[in-house]
Amino acid sequence: MGRGESVHQEFLRRLGAIPIHGVGLSVDVHAPDFASLRRNLLERQVPPAYFEVFCSTAKALESVRKEAGEGLLTYHGEGLWITHPGVAESQSFQRAVHEAGEHLQILQSAWLNHECAAKFLAGYYYGTYLPPLYTRQSAEVIADNTTVLQRLLDDQCRTANGSTPLVLLEMPPLTYFVAGTVSIPTFYQVVCDQSPCGLVLDVGHLWTVFRYTGAYRVLTLPQFVEAFLNAFPMDRVVEIHVAGLDIHPSHRARTTQLVGQTDGTALPAWTDAHAVPIPPVLFEMLDQILSHPQLTSLRGMALEVDAKPTELIVEEFAAFSQRYASVFPRISGSETMGCGSIESPVQEPVHAASATESLEEAYDRYVRVVLGKAEPTGLEWSQNPGCAQDLDLYRFVYLPYEILHWGGDLADMFVASHRRLRERGISLEGFVAFWFRDPLPLVEPYDFFLLKVERFVDFIREVAPDLEALAESEAEGLRQAYCLVNEPTPSLQVS
Ligand SMILES: [Fe+2]
Repeated sequence: MGRGESVHQEFLRRLGAIPIHGVGLSVDVHAPDFASLRRNLLERQVPPAYFEVFCSTAKALESVRKEAGEGLLTYHGEGLWITHPGVAESQSFQRAVHEAGEHLQILQSAWLNHECAAKFLAGYYYGTYLPPLYTRQSAEVIADNTTVLQRLLDDQCRTANGSTPLVLLEMPPLTYFVAGTVSIPTFYQVVCDQSPCGLVLDVGHLWTVFRYTGAYRVLTLPQFVEAFLNAFPMDRVVEIHVAGLDIHPSHRARTTQLVGQTDGTALPAWTDAHAVPIPPVLFEMLDQILSHPQLTSLRGMALEVDAKPTELIVEEFAAFSQRYASVFPRISGSETMGCGSIESPVQEPVHAASATESLEEAYDRYVRVVLGKAEPTGLEWSQNPGCAQDLDLYRFVYLPYEILHWGGDLADMFVASHRRLRERGISLEGFVAFWFRDPLPLVEPYDFFLLKVERFVDFIREVAPDLEALAESEAEGLRQAYCLVNEPTPSLQVS
């Protein structure tokens, strides 16, 4: 048996221990509040077959577990930067895995879903995910890191049926650009040939691949989906996500422009967006995905929401669960269910130090381009030659917005300090340059809000040292308020 085949057998054994989860909802614990969202869904008689819960504090997850009773819960992790070369050797990774293991155990989750992407890369922090470099070497490093992650979870976690949560990698969205030398489906095939992980296929993310690889210039959407799925390891897809797409607020003011498609219709510059209504085109894509003959490992499909109005979630979920109620009996009919053995350990990853080093260099180049410090030249940027304008949108519009406004608007967070800076003619734009000036070490756990608070005080210390005490007192208030918001409300607390 070749390595790829034995890795796949390993995946199938692990998959055998995962029951069909059905049609679910992927949520954030706090936005909207989990207990009241669940109540609303029950009142409308559309209880999700499972909830997937985004990373939060152990206390908040315990509250969710208690609230959900015997219901199935799964876990959407964060902060395991498996795209990062050398990450598996770091103590911060070990700590992050330990925390994820604790969360999985609390929820009794059958899988750990994690984006195949990072919010910390080559020394810089981002608020939203940066996709990996789509190269063969990068796929191999991710496969190694994912295998290490699975092995660490095997040591730490057991769910009630005696199995270990299966690591699932979610293909991340493209936000205006792509970089690499292999196609995205080939990249995931290489990962799956070398690691026994499952995959999450997010339909909206797939739409962004159509848009930002430039495929829309030569193919219709159904042609693209067909070609993509035929090359993608569909037999590893364990979960499907459907979330919204929207014009990003940083871009909205400038964009009435739409780009042309081959059939003459227009294609908007949408990016991943969890708070807005789901466009109907994603359900057309989903129908095509669900009819793919290689989709043999599916265990759940979820609408993914975050900060969306409860009424809209309930309405969309009611329609979603009705439309796709028959999917799982159909798929489970062709599957052997039951508790598979997970005894055979995953193979030790073959670690090549030189490969890691040169991938580190490639990521340094990649990050310099996305930060606007270097131009997109070389093989990695030749896949989609028409994308220079879209890349500039990321570098000079989206990224500054992310630092100044996303996950906490700095002008609202530091009202007094900001007013004093304005009086002196110091603009917040300088903070963006400050943020991306020097690489930083990785600190855990990743928290963009708290990092913003800390870095803004550092910025004030540099540009207006006499305002440091004022900024620090505002920072302290923000930290305390944040801490309160992130703990469960008293009515939810576990005794
Ligand atoms: Fe997703």
